Amino acid sequence: MAILEYRVEDGCAIVTWDQADRSMNVVNAAALEALDAAVVRAVADADVKGIVLTSGKKGSFVAGADLAELEKLGAGPFDAADLAKRTGEVLAQLRRMETCGKPVVAALNGLALGGGYEIALACHRRIVVDARGAKVGLPEATMGLMPGAGGTVRLPRLIGIANALGVILEGKQLAPDEALKKGLVDEVVPEGELLAAAKRWILGGGSAVQPWDQKGAKVPGGGIDSTGGLQTLMGSVAMVHANTFGNYPHAKAILSAVYEGMRLPVERAARVETRYFLSLLAGPVAKAMLRTLFFGMQNASKGTRRPKDVPPFEVRKLGILGAGLMGAGVAFVAAKAGVDVVLLDRDEAGAEKGRQYAVDRLQRDLAKGRTTQEKVDATLARIRPTASYDDLAGCDVVVEAVFENREVKAAVTKRAEAVLTERAIFGSNTSGLPITGLAEASVRPANFVGMHFFSPVERMQLVEVIRGRETSDETLAKTYDFVRRIGKTAIVVNDARSFYTSRVFGTYITEGAELLRSGVAPALIENAGRISGMPMPPLALSDEVGLDLMRHAGEQAKIDLGERFEPSAMGDAVELLVGRLGRHGRKNGKGFYDYRPDGGKSLWPGLGEHFPVGAAQPDAREIVQRYLLAQCLETARCIEEGVVTSPEDCDVGAILGWGFAAYTGGPCSYMDTLGIARVVEICDGLAARLGKRFAPPALLRDMARDGRTFYAS
Ligand code: NAI
Repeated sequence: MAILEYRVEDGCAIVTWDQADRSMNVVNAAALEALDAAVVRAVADADVKGIVLTSGKKGSFVAGADLAELEKLGAGPFDAADLAKRTGEVLAQLRRMETCGKPVVAALNGLALGGGYEIALACHRRIVVDARGAKVGLPEATMGLMPGAGGTVRLPRLIGIANALGVILEGKQLAPDEALKKGLVDEVVPEGELLAAAKRWILGGGSAVQPWDQKGAKVPGGGIDSTGGLQTLMGSVAMVHANTFGNYPHAKAILSAVYEGMRLPVERAARVETRYFLSLLAGPVAKAMLRTLFFGMQNASKGTRRPKDVPPFEVRKLGILGAGLMGAGVAFVAAKAGVDVVLLDRDEAGAEKGRQYAVDRLQRDLAKGRTTQEKVDATLARIRPTASYDDLAGCDVVVEAVFENREVKAAVTKRAEAVLTERAIFGSNTSGLPITGLAEASVRPANFVGMHFFSPVERMQLVEVIRGRETSDETLAKTYDFVRRIGKTAIVVNDARSFYTSRVFGTYITEGAELLRSGVAPALIENAGRISGMPMPPLALSDEVGLDLMRHAGEQAKIDLGERFEPSAMGDAVELLVGRLGRHGRKNGKGFYDYRPDGGKSLWPGLGEHFPVGAAQPDAREIVQRYLLAQCLETARCIEEGVVTSPEDCDVGAILGWGFAAYTGGPCSYMDTLGIARVVEICDGLAARLGKRFAPPALLRDMARDGRTFYAS
């Protein structure tokens, strides 16, 4: 299979990487061997002054390592010695390239990420096109991994330790301008001028010696033992630990590889990097993160579970009912994605207020230089505020985001449908009202679906799509297409109380209240929340959601569930705080916390009076386990009840929807990692002490008995 094309042009060898069987080039053994051969050939040719390495793929140079191969490796025990040997060969090839004696330029025509950028780092110059979508960087950290082809060795030597650690630890992908500013590339050129610029540099006498191979080479900003270097390291270690509590082994591995590697020659530093890289690959975190944060999200955004046989649905015009917080957010996101939006509210002023949300955000982006006046104008021109239902004519999709009230929702559904065609779909953004019930107001219940967006819409990637009893496959497929069209990711769940995300997320908050009720110190409750890797501790989170809103939800649950309603510790706490003490959470500055005008907050000292702290306190690790397992068990119940059908949707939804600890890969991944039998054993123990909320559902017992896992069965 063809991998590289080699030709000589104006005294330069143009090596074009173009893997025939793929849409993007990926780094694998065959490609690197071909590259090695091309370098040997160019070096041997006296007419060739230098090498230009570029790609034949539109918009991308090399997308990085073959992650499917990595995932396969991570899935089971692998032969580490063999992998170390193979990685060593890659590193030696790259080293041969950078010491071949002729200048090599990476001509980056688009994405150059991970392994792709590491190859560029082993070239003597990096030139990137100024094109939309062009990105360079080392995103491995976002998947619990680290660069494994010399990235931790070359980048600090190229741009300094502090800058390199920033890029590597955060897994940043940089646009051309930013990459140039930070020194990740040497030149940015307009599209179409890439090869000319590369050749110009070679023919102008470009150096074939890397900065770190030059005599008396110095690391920019100082080496590892300089005051600056040591300060950077110490600061980074403290920061990483403060942010991750040791949950992300890759962060520590990156710091160690850089610290040790900077004291060694390049070849030996690369071997140190390999050891850390392999240790990550062998551990559970990278495996779980790779599966959910890369493959799971890719599948979800591609719509792998979209019903087939429904032709692609083009969404040109979107109607939004209710221009409040959510409606305005959806309008902004859709308009930004190029969709025409009709934003309807009870009166013109209300609708205009919703459009103002987009104005404010775009102005902010403009002030920060993130967009242009032209784009701002174009986006705003797409949002048409109105109070007239007639303007909805011709909409492909309508999203309803009026008050959370059945009657109001029924009324707007009827009025909107009167002007829609059979082809249009209607999505309700209800946070918890059953979709099947809401669809009763619809004359086309097959076209009716739940589209649960999260706030703030522009930042939250997930849309939880809820299938009502009557929702057709066609509507579901169209919903997938719409969600994708506006750049979001969909998971599909079946209609049930609180759907999936709110239901599972609620157990985390409730567990915080259970701990409070049982005499655990509030500071310990909150610190354990941070240590667990959840984005916010449970009591602070309750304040954010709003205690009055939680009280309202509890009252609604009581009505809906009747005899099946079970009082919870959170219900009691909320009743006390809102009902008797008037503490509503962040919005009135008083909740579990006191909020200061300067933006600071501290746990309310009065809590101890209402929830006396016990003499004996549990271990923080046990609390962490309770937080995570409470959510895992609820997830398993959702699967058992058919609310969610795929573990991948559970995991993607958990991480994108409410920020479930990403290092676990999501609740199903976490249960698989612990082992289902172990989960059952721990939960049986917790249930005996704490009550039936920890009782494992039959599904888990069956899986444990049969030795099944969520992902392998
Ligand atoms: P909001 O109160 O900010 O906005 C509701 C908007 O609907 C208001 O502008 C109101 O004037 C308009 N409206 C009310 N009745 C109307 C009618 N008959 N015709 C036209 N417009 C009407 O509420 P928010 O927060 O935007 O919530 C909207 C929906 O989204 C609710 O169902 C809510 O449960 C749901 N939701 C809210 C989330 C949140 O974080 N706020 C998250 C996910 C869903």
